[in-house]
Amino acid sequence: MADWLFENPTASSNGTMAVLDEASTETKGKSPESWLREFSVATGLPCLCLDRDLGCIVGQSHPEMLPFVSTELLQRLDEIESLEVRRVTEQLTTFAIPARANDRLIITGYVLSTRGARPAELLFSAVEADWGETRLNSWLSSIPVCDAKILQRLLDSVGREFHQQRREGELQLELNSLSQQIDYTYEEISLLHRLTRNLQLSRPSKELADMCVRGLYSLIECVGTVICIQDSSNEMHFLTQGRMPFDQSGLARLLARFEQHDWNKPLVKNKLQHTLLGADFPGLKNIVIVPIGEPQHRRGWIISTNLRGGRDFGTIEANLIASIATILGTHARNIELYDEHDDLLVGFVRSLVSTLDAKDPYTRGHSERVALVARCLGRQMQIDTNDLDDIYLSGLLHDIGKVGVDDRILAKPGQLTEEEFLQVQQHPMIGFQILQQLKSLQAILPGVRHHHEAFNGKGYPDKLKGDEIPLMARIIAVADSYDAMVSDRPYRKGMPLEKLEDIFRRGANEQWDPRVIDAFFVVKNEIQKLCESYSPKRGNLLREKQSSRSGIITGRTLLQR
Ligand SMILES: [Fe+2]
Repeated sequence: MADWLFENPTASSNGTMAVLDEASTETKGKSPESWLREFSVATGLPCLCLDRDLGCIVGQSHPEMLPFVSTELLQRLDEIESLEVRRVTEQLTTFAIPARANDRLIITGYVLSTRGARPAELLFSAVEADWGETRLNSWLSSIPVCDAKILQRLLDSVGREFHQQRREGELQLELNSLSQQIDYTYEEISLLHRLTRNLQLSRPSKELADMCVRGLYSLIECVGTVICIQDSSNEMHFLTQGRMPFDQSGLARLLARFEQHDWNKPLVKNKLQHTLLGADFPGLKNIVIVPIGEPQHRRGWIISTNLRGGRDFGTIEANLIASIATILGTHARNIELYDEHDDLLVGFVRSLVSTLDAKDPYTRGHSERVALVARCLGRQMQIDTNDLDDIYLSGLLHDIGKVGVDDRILAKPGQLTEEEFLQVQQHPMIGFQILQQLKSLQAILPGVRHHHEAFNGKGYPDKLKGDEIPLMARIIAVADSYDAMVSDRPYRKGMPLEKLEDIFRRGANEQWDPRVIDAFFVVKNEIQKLCESYSPKRGNLLREKQSSRSGIITGRTLLQR
């Protein structure tokens, strides 16, 4: 009954029944017969359906109903805009109402004023319809008896009821639609939120794309979604959810068809069944295609096909897919930039370490051993993994300032003069000044600048004391001293471990941080093996490439874990 609408405000206020909204999807699916039945059941009145254009009856609520329509009504069919109740004679009252707004169908009927009445109009109509006396009498006895005013009130009352039901139906539809929109928006936000939480550079493009294709497939309700994406090693991945109407080669053919498309916006194609594209790709009904990445950094494509429920793809689906493509493209590009930056940094640090090794070949490998020992000490002191990476790198470059010290002083086998020693003491600050220009290496600067500070404040260059000295530097100081004392030099043999341990014990709290010395004694065997197994001939300890990105651009890709 929600099919009926009393759309005229005046009609609503004065109770005049009006018509049905054309936009009602429920009504569009109903036949005039079903309207007649519903109206007849609600009012208890037999009724007919008239076609304004044809000017004749096209339906009736009761098979045995006498098909009477007053001549006056037939002449005024085009004028009926709302409910009309007319007393045709003393004995006969008729009513008429448009079935729907701006509709050509009119519902009409009649009642008797008194029981036993035999209106001449009905008698004539019976003769025309070739009804016999018995049939007519039977029909007349079954016609409702009703006063015109009461009929008006009855139809108004039913009209209001229909209107109310109609409004409730509309509101329910609106509510359902809003609920669906809220559900969709919530799911969309959840998906985007989930993705942004997983944008670490350590997450491979394929893994993120897999998350995307699953999310899109469940959200968009299409028959198939595919993401093809090229990872950082240039391997192409095809990640599919649902059923696609083409395989990988078909996808290539499909994309070739749209080479001229302006890919700054998604490509949306609907109703493809009877098109050339639909003929070339059987089963393809509609499609959205969005590229991943900018044209100069194209990383792949997202394609959704065949929206369920016979619906067309629209802005909502296209925008969502475009958002996901932007996330994937940005993530892939960031990985690319990270790798490029990494390559530069690796090359730079290699150059620095090689330069130092070339300048002072006798201490070749010292930097790398200090880095290894420092990291071992840091791990024993339960320092965070990322900080251990910084300690390692700082150990690797701690003496880089020696490139600014006279070669003859560095290579001098005997005792240094005071002036020479002052020049050597410059190397932490020289190293600091070289590296401080590099944003990526900021985290390692404390180890470079302060690895010659002494715990009692008698070191250099800043004479820091105790905890004023950055922990990184206190750790590197122990690692540096260890390697310097145990390593052989052309002019002396390495110190026996027993003697070194004695020096460390005596120097704790004076030269070195006692907590680092404590850590040394716990892992001294591990450190000894580490240094004994290390050989510069095995090559540089710098890694070629780091498979897992920390997400922060530093020199961590240089690190051997
Ligand atoms: Fe040094």
